[in-house]
Amino acid sequence: MFFPLSAPPLLRFMAAAAAAAGTPPANMRAVQYDTCGGGATGLKHVEVPVPSAKKNEVLLKLEAATINPVDWKIQKGMLRPLLPRKLPFIPVTDVAGVVAGVGPGVKDFAVGDQVVAMLNSFTGGGFAEYAVAPANLTVKRPPEVSAAEGAGLPVAAGTALQALRSIGAKFDGTGDPLNVLITAASGGVGLYAVQLAKLANLHVTATCGARNADLVKGLGADEVLDYRTPEGAAMRSPSGRKYDGVVHCTVGVGWSAFEPLMSDAGKVIDITPNFSAMLTSALHAVTLRRKRLVPLLLSPNKADLELLVGLMKDGRLKTVVDSRFPLSDAEKAWQKSIDGHATGKIVVEMEG
Ligand SMILES: NC(=O)c1ccc[n+]([C@@H]2O[C@H](COP(=O)([O-])OP(=O)(O)OC[C@H]3O[C@@H](n4cnc5c(N)ncnc54)[C@H](OP(=O)(O)O)[C@@H]3O)[C@@H](O)[C@H]2O)c1
Repeated sequence: MFFPLSAPPLLRFMAAAAAAAGTPPANMRAVQYDTCGGGATGLKHVEVPVPSAKKNEVLLKLEAATINPVDWKIQKGMLRPLLPRKLPFIPVTDVAGVVAGVGPGVKDFAVGDQVVAMLNSFTGGGFAEYAVAPANLTVKRPPEVSAAEGAGLPVAAGTALQALRSIGAKFDGTGDPLNVLITAASGGVGLYAVQLAKLANLHVTATCGARNADLVKGLGADEVLDYRTPEGAAMRSPSGRKYDGVVHCTVGVGWSAFEPLMSDAGKVIDITPNFSAMLTSALHAVTLRRKRLVPLLLSPNKADLELLVGLMKDGRLKTVVDSRFPLSDAEKAWQKSIDGHATGKIVVEMEG
């Protein structure tokens, strides 16, 4: 495709993007594991065939991927027998890149489109130079949204959005000014939850480590508690508010600790529920409790991803990048996520 310099800027931009996507090579660099349980040292750098886009899929030349704790939990075997579906497995689902090919049935994308996508959890594929994404979990990425920022969104921001909606947050200005508590507000999910809660006009109490208090306040939290202090561990709102909802992003806090902090119909949305939390939530459901614990598993969908990319385009939502690693150092990024002290998202970039 050739466009003269006199062509409109958008056409020239599209032509440059298509050229950047290039013709996919036969093989690509990727990072995979072939057994469960090996941690960062279990990751192996390999050369494998570039996948091809099947019906309703797009082939992406990846620019960036971000890690979610679930990625290494799958490697640990914590989601067996569901995941990993088969080994060897190229991990990570949250990516951004350029469309390098479209499969049959795909009408909304063309080679050269810049996109954000969530790959199929069963097949993974994000730690690689190319990956196939379902077209229905791929959205166009405007120039205002960098690959690293966009790749942070699918799981972490999607979960934050759905957790806040479960509490009753509305993003069209029609919601009540609810009081929410966000635990682990400095993490991948938490930092999006703080920003989204403020967009929904909620009053936000947040817990995080002291080193991140200013960041979390700067993104909109009204009250911040250091989780390593007795006040932080108690999670009580300094202004005496009862919580209408909790976006609970950490572990080790049971219902009995939340119960006295909640308003009459307050809901604790637990995104990492253990067995006891599942039992509590089942009991609350069958006894029709108003004040209750609700486990949440992300339900990925294109509309939410489009909403999030749009908010980012408009400068209303940002990705806090904890750190960036080239694909050649993927194991360092993996270990950083396992260590559990990221502030925002850990990004792996494919160039280099
Ligand atoms: N249900 C779902 O669909 C879903 C989706 C996404 C994530 N998740 C789960 O949600 C959890 C959070 O995910 P994430 O991506 O946000 O994790 P993350 O980015 O790894 O979280 C790390 C952050 O948590 C903070 N933190 C750790 N323990 C804390 C505590 N007790 N109190 C306050 N802050 C604490 C750390 O602060 P310091 O460094 O100061 O310790 C760090 O900033 C994970 O278990 C993940 O698997 C579930």
